[in-house]
Amino acid sequence: MSKYEKTLDIIFGRWRSQVLYVGVKLGVFDCVTSNPKYASDIAKELNLDNKLAYRLLRALGSLGLLREGVNHDFSITGEGEFLRRDNPQTLRGIALLEEGHEHYALWKHLHNMIKDGKQNAFPREYGKKLFEFTDSNPPYRKVFDEAMSSYSSIQTTWVSEALDRYDFSNIKCVCDVGGGQGHLLCSLLAKYPHLDGIVLELQSAIKNKEFLWAGKMGLEDRCKYIAGNMFNEVPAADAHIMKMILHDWSDDECVKILSNIYDASPKKGTVLIAEHLVPGPDIPHFSKIFDIHMMCVATGRERTIDEYAQLLKSAGWKHANTFHSRSGLMGVVVGNK
Ligand SMILES: C[S@@+](CC[C@H](N)C(=O)[O-])C[C@H]1O[C@@H](n2cnc3c(N)ncnc32)[C@H](O)[C@@H]1O
Repeated sequence: MSKYEKTLDIIFGRWRSQVLYVGVKLGVFDCVTSNPKYASDIAKELNLDNKLAYRLLRALGSLGLLREGVNHDFSITGEGEFLRRDNPQTLRGIALLEEGHEHYALWKHLHNMIKDGKQNAFPREYGKKLFEFTDSNPPYRKVFDEAMSSYSSIQTTWVSEALDRYDFSNIKCVCDVGGGQGHLLCSLLAKYPHLDGIVLELQSAIKNKEFLWAGKMGLEDRCKYIAGNMFNEVPAADAHIMKMILHDWSDDECVKILSNIYDASPKKGTVLIAEHLVPGPDIPHFSKIFDIHMMCVATGRERTIDEYAQLLKSAGWKHANTFHSRSGLMGVVVGNK
């Protein structure tokens, strides 16, 4: 691709993600299989307008998510498979949250936020902060939680990979602070059978028991879910882990969370911070784009290892080590007491 074409391609990035989103939202990827189906049959099954549905399917074909045959027939591609509801590595939840109308609406505030120096488009758009909005809007909470489990299906692998070099042998109990429905924690419990775990979460995230991973993975006797607020108090544990938590919050808010964890930790306590770590200036990295998303949705940001080390220090911790996933997309910053 020439430089000109590359620039043009970036301009149309949002069109592609919206076409994908609408395909997911309408259930296209759960309807189309590896056996070709006529566009008219897909439209009938999904209750869509025949002609407009064909044009959407053709566009999804052009993106490589479906394969178009010569008779207006479509089958799913390997890439499209990741958007199916029943794929264990499904990306469906991420597509529904990040391109859904609630988040789409936030981006229009970006240029004013950068001019004013005041991030967080949630209060501008909805009069509420992100986690006040999740608490008062159960359908959005459901999409949010599905997205977090969807993110986790890949991030848990990265974190687990990064922690292969971490010694869990002296740890009995791990608390996942803001652990969502427990995907990461339960995966660690499955990998390290001597561990017990606690998920600390907002009540709204854990009240629907059928979505919790402890039940789905048969780990209910080793994994407790506690409803609470990490800004008030955190349960005691030998190690505390947080994935995609500190990036939601400002430096002051992070120091408060890390201080509460410090107070709940034993003498040899540990905190494990799993995030997209921002690399040096000339290295293109997903964290640098995710950082702009954080500017839109919250008070947080993506940070470098040194910035996490500074937060740890401000809350009394010592930065002990940093482990990276093989892909380099996520890292775990370790703090010791
Ligand atoms: C970005 S999500 C990450 C969830 C999970 N750690 C993961 O990686 O999938 C942030 C989580 O923090 C939880 N959360 C927000 N405020 C909280 C608070 N004050 N106390 C405990 N959990 C909180 C939210 O409910 C949400 O599930």
